[in-house]
Amino acid sequence: MKLIKICFFGASLTFGACQNPHPEGEKLYKVHCANCHMDDGKGLEGLIPPLANSDYLQKKPQELACLIRHGYEGKMTINGQIYEGKMPANKALSVVEIANILNYISNTWGNKREFIPQKTIQSAIDSCQ
Ligand code: HEC
Repeated sequence: MKLIKICFFGASLTFGACQNPHPEGEKLYKVHCANCHMDDGKGLEGLIPPLANSDYLQKKPQELACLIRHGYEGKMTINGQIYEGKMPANKALSVVEIANILNYISNTWGNKREFIPQKTIQSAIDSCQ
């Protein structure tokens, strides 16, 4: 069932082909994020929070963009579980790269949300706290 949904989503964007609609985001994820959050987005029990079915990912795109750019250290509650780790900053990632990663992780592993445009990420990055 899940596979059919993913294929359908890919097909609706690429007119026929059944593939990941965010290939750039996937590549960047594997390089910059998968070390910790894992290829399957499940994280590491108790240490690294999951991105798969994460309620945190439903937050405003602005907050997510700033989290990816600047990292975070402190308490964070994801799916009812408290984490107190350190998410590193990603100063070298461009706005386009952050947009690609964010659109990939927001539409993979059972996650789903509307497309986040580059200009939303740009204005977020310009005004991160
Ligand atoms: C060194 C390990 C590490 C790397 C690399 C890393 N993260 Fe994280 N990430 C964490 C930790 C730990 C937290 C929780 C932080 C806390 O407890 O304060 C977190 C939290 C998050 C959250 C919010 C919580 C959730 O699970 O939804 C998101 C979204 C996220 N990371 C995305 C990313 C993305 C995208 C990348 C790649 C650009 C990335 N992370 C790279 C360790 C990492």
